Amino acid sequence: MRGLPAALERWTDEKLEIDVFPEDRAPSPAELKAWVQDADGVVALLSDRFDATLIDACPRLRVIANYAVGYDNIDAIAAAERGIWVTNTPDVLTDATADLTWALILGLARRLREAESVIREGRVWEWKPGMLLGRELRGATLGILGFGRIGQAVARRAQGFGMQTIVTTRRTLGSEASSVFGVEQVSFDELLERSEVLSIHCPLTDQTFHRFGEDEFRRMRRDAYVINTARGPIVDEAALVRALEEGQLAGAGLDVFEREPCVEPGLVESPRVMLLPHIGSATEWTRGRMAEIAMTNAVNVLLGGKPLNPVCAVPNPR
Ligand code: NAP
Ligand code: GLV
Ligand code: GLV
Repeated sequence: MRGLPAALERWTDEKLEIDVFPEDRAPSPAELKAWVQDADGVVALLSDRFDATLIDACPRLRVIANYAVGYDNIDAIAAAERGIWVTNTPDVLTDATADLTWALILGLARRLREAESVIREGRVWEWKPGMLLGRELRGATLGILGFGRIGQAVARRAQGFGMQTIVTTRRTLGSEASSVFGVEQVSFDELLERSEVLSIHCPLTDQTFHRFGEDEFRRMRRDAYVINTARGPIVDEAALVRALEEGQLAGAGLDVFEREPCVEPGLVESPRVMLLPHIGSATEWTRGRMAEIAMTNAVNVLLGGKPLNPVCAVPNPR
């Protein structure tokens, strides 16, 4: 594990030997392998990739406790087949990530980047009726892909802003969805065609990889904003740059990128985007709770118990 000093202090009484990766950076794949190959349990960050080859190189491993709710960095099926638990940190980051999603929506709608740069760059300004006009959110249509914990928290906030929310989910939503969240369930096609703000909240899987590409952007409204606080590769970043350049979309708010920490150059240059360095869950409270949960998941397994948050069943644990 690495980067969780407060949680480590809490666990010094346990009968476990805890090694912390000494560098304040992600290990290379070779360093990660050397670091974890003799471990019984690992607390992993979302940048630590555990594919089947690495898992096979760890004969003692019994648990990979991810310090994140998304676990696309881990081959959970390969792990379960080998009797290894994979766990995540749900719920405690839902509000923080939903809040950040709204920071991006508001930032785009009210042109906060451009507005702040007027002052930071020392430009001359005075109050004028036509200066930096943005968009009203009231009455606008918010589309949500992935109506899980974070998608629902974003929808709940949308009611306060007076938006109409439409969602695409693989489940059939009951009438409580419309009474509790005020949402309407629509097909993916309708989500693309109607959304003025389209916010992505599904996990990255083989099915959702590049779910948004050239064709999808062409079918969206030209005044639409795309918001991604889920995982970068759900969006084809090069296609997004082209869509923005060609005016097929009004803008994009991104907290996640296809090849983090790299960002497609066309995005950095674009005046129509807001870019954040994957800070969705980054509040003091949430990161502390995530550390406690990840450590508890790992320690429970290592001391012979069950993890709190397994991402899938493990029929024959090691
Ligand atoms: P969740 O409760 O599991 O919700 C995800 C929802 O996505 C599910 O309820 C599911 O809804 C939908 N979904 C699953 N597979 C899908 C597919 N193939 N196509 C379309 N929809 C699919 O997870 P969560 O806690 O809300 O977190 C969602 C994601 O946010 C995480 O996986 C993670 O990648 C990302 N995240 C990012 C940050 C950040 O720092 N930016 C922070 C936290 C989480 P239906 O079954 O109804 O379709
Ligand atoms: C962060 O991106 C997470 O999945 O928790
Ligand atoms: C703006 O500051 C106003 O008072 O309308």
